[in-house]
Amino acid sequence: MAVKYFSLVRKGSLGQKPSKRYPILVVLALTMISSIYICLFPLNQKGFKISPNAMRVEVMEEPYGYLSVPPFEFPRAHYPKPTTYSRNECECIPVRYFAIITMQRSGSGWFETLLNSHINISSNGEIFSVRERRSNMSTITETLDKVYNLDWYSSASKNECTGAVGFKWMLNQGLMQNQEDIVEYFKRRGISSVFLFRRNLLRRWVSLLANSHDRDAKQLNGTHKAHVHSRHEAEVLARFKPVIDVETLIPDMMQAAKWSSDILRSFLGTRHIVLYYEDLVRNRTKMMDILTFLKMPPRKLTSRHVKIHTRPLSDHIENWDVVARALNGTQYENFIHSDYRRK
Ligand SMILES: *[C@@H]1O[C@H](CO)[C@@H](O)[C@H](O)[C@H]1NC(C)=O
Ligand SMILES: *[C@@H]1O[C@H](CO)[C@@H](O)[C@H](O)[C@H]1NC(C)=O
Ligand SMILES: *[C@@H]1O[C@H](CO)[C@@H](O)[C@H](O)[C@H]1NC(C)=O
Ligand SMILES: *[C@@H]1O[C@H](CO)[C@@H](O)[C@H](O)[C@H]1NC(C)=O
Ligand SMILES: *[C@@H]1O[C@H](CO)[C@@H](O)[C@H](O)[C@H]1NC(C)=O
Repeated sequence: MAVKYFSLVRKGSLGQKPSKRYPILVVLALTMISSIYICLFPLNQKGFKISPNAMRVEVMEEPYGYLSVPPFEFPRAHYPKPTTYSRNECECIPVRYFAIITMQRSGSGWFETLLNSHINISSNGEIFSVRERRSNMSTITETLDKVYNLDWYSSASKNECTGAVGFKWMLNQGLMQNQEDIVEYFKRRGISSVFLFRRNLLRRWVSLLANSHDRDAKQLNGTHKAHVHSRHEAEVLARFKPVIDVETLIPDMMQAAKWSSDILRSFLGTRHIVLYYEDLVRNRTKMMDILTFLKMPPRKLTSRHVKIHTRPLSDHIENWDVVARALNGTQYENFIHSDYRRK
């Protein structure tokens, strides 16, 4: 809301768009100013309704959380008004908007469960896995508007006091095709980009092949699982050792690397943070960086996810010798050497 307010004022004052729409803009701007004003100075307003609800009075008498938001933060602090429910006593608590931008099998399932274990964070999953929602920029915008207005319902939805809301977006879910329009939307609405990449693209490839194998083989009691919650289940899934076609491996890894660098370049102008799965696995304290970035209070984050492929890659690839030989001496050579130090 605040972003709209600023950009409207800018357009108006520079007179870039002198048009019949001007009076509407003024009305809109005034509405927005007044709602910001109400959130800033609730008690200064004579006759401001204090609801009989005791919770609300209590919140109002506290030193206001939102007053600690410095003025330059306003474009990033939003006060959405969901159409499906009321934020009640939390309507003056700012909400941060984010999107996790990532690729399949890069640890985003685990990452998202960690975020959702935070009382104030709602990350709504892979909402663009549904094809119709990503048909074109209008359906994308409609979907995004709903998520950021806190009107999206998913198992990750928190309560009216949600402090940060987002979802995860895979590069191949309409993101690459609509980069420019999406960047424009992110800038206009003050959405922060959280990039989550995996450094070792060979490990990612093993994970993709194993996941795709399990989709047919359904190794866990006849059900396919993309993520598991026990060591036992992880071991069952890790028993499958893919044979890797080295002819397609290198072009596929090149493609993945190119997509990540292209998307990073496009989104440089948005507020962003870049995280690597390997770093988060090695150093759990790194998760606190994301809380700082989202301006959420630090808390212990937990996930029930158990890592599937934990051994050296040579134990997870059937034709390891062929793969190692093919990558030896290429820019991807380090993928065959690097391994997890932790667990
Ligand atoms: C966008 O896609 C939706 C759903 O597929 C369709 O109904 C709509 O006409 C499309 N809009 C444009 C502008 O192409
Ligand atoms: C976090 O959630 C709690 C409980 O719903 C709420 O009281 C608090 O104001 C929220 N904090 C932020 C920063 O959103
Ligand atoms: C299959 O289900 C049974 C009973 O629910 C459970 O004890 C067993 O561990 C499961 N097997 C696997 C491979 O998950
Ligand atoms: C772990 O991550 C935190 C937060 O980014 C950082 O301050 C710390 O130095 C890291 N520790 C190690 C051992 O790399
Ligand atoms: C990589 O190539 C070098 C020589 O070109 C050889 O000495 C080394 O054993 C090779 N390593 C692997 C893992 O195949």
